[in-house]
Order: sequence, then C-alpha cells, then structure tokens
Amino acid sequence: MNKINKIKELNNILEKKYNEKLVLGNGSVDSKIVLVGEAPGKNEVIKGKPFVGAAGKYLNEFLDILEIDREDIYITNTVKYRPTKINKKTGNEINRTPNKDEIEEFKAYLFKEISIIDPKIIIPLGNVPFKTIIENNNLTIGKYHGKVLNKDIHNKKYTIYPLYHPAAVIYNRSIKKDYIRDLNNLKKIFIKQI
Ligand code: URA
Repeated sequence: MNKINKIKELNNILEKKYNEKLVLGNGSVDSKIVLVGEAPGKNEVIKGKPFVGAAGKYLNEFLDILEIDREDIYITNTVKYRPTKINKKTGNEINRTPNKDEIEEFKAYLFKEISIIDPKIIIPLGNVPFKTIIENNNLTIGKYHGKVLNKDIHNKKYTIYPLYHPAAVIYNRSIKKDYIRDLNNLKKIFIKQI
C-alpha cells in the first residue's frame, strides 16, 4: 500500500472513532520534514486544515526562511480536534491546551502517522508536541528549542528539531529573535542535505 492510502486508512480510523470535526494532517506525504503543532483552533476547524489561522501567518514566515512551499511539507497536530472551554466572562467558546488524557489518546495515531510519512526531520512546534514526541515531560521547549535530538519511533531513529510554537512567538515578542535564529540554523544544517 502506498503512503497516501496508508494515511487515508489511518484517517478513516480516526474519523470513525470521533464524532466531531477533525483537522487531519495535510501536505505532501513525501515530505522530508513533518511539522507537528498542538491542536487546531477555530479557523483550522472551519477550513479543515492545520495552521490557517493567526499561527499560520508565522508558519508562512517559517516557509519563507526555509524557502519551501507549504504543499511540499507535511503538517499535522498532536491532538486532531479543537479542545475548547467556555470563557466565563463572555460565555464564548475558546481554545484550551489539550489535557494529558487527550494527548495520550492521540499519541499512537501521531506516531503511526509519522512512521508512514517517514521524514528526515520532525519539527515539534511548542511544548505539547515536543514532550509528546520525545516522551519526556521534564524537557521543555524553552531549553531545547533549536537543538538537534534523536528519538526512536516504531523502531526507527528520527532527527527531532524542536521550535517554539508560532503562537508563542506572537504573544511573546522576546522569543522572536530565538525563533528566527533557530530557523536559520535549521536551514543551514539540514535543508542543504535534504
Ligand atoms: N496551532 C496549532 O498548534 N495547530 C494548528 O493547527 C493551529 C494553531
């Protein structure tokens, strides 16, 4: 079975299991880079695609620096539905960080998804995908962003290059410099050899 069909098969399992709108992985199954976010937000659910809202703007910056097209990479999220809570003041539904159970529930799918795509580099964007992929809750993105790590997934060694989550860059301007430097290093270290 080719990669597209394997991903379709995996997605079918997820869609049968969850009775809500899922935002599944998107992009090229032949990509050498897999980007992993946290969970979709409102805009992602509306459009059915990861990273199309505010965080998507920073994703475009990512793609510009690396000089790659969005269609040529594969982008997915740790949790495939939008975790929400009610804002007590406004009564509106707002995003929340996925909890431990949700992350654990989706981890097996994420690892299967990664092993089907079989990229050269996995880029977790922020703490949730980073801790999930590295399977260590004590490591933080603040300490490990821009560092090259290795992790076995389904008996294969993958290079992990964690970056800050694009939304963190939006809300915390002071990390923007680090983020841009990490991206330029990523370009220097890897893109040439891919
Ligand atoms: N943030 C994420 O982590 N994923 C998305 O798809 C959008 C925003």
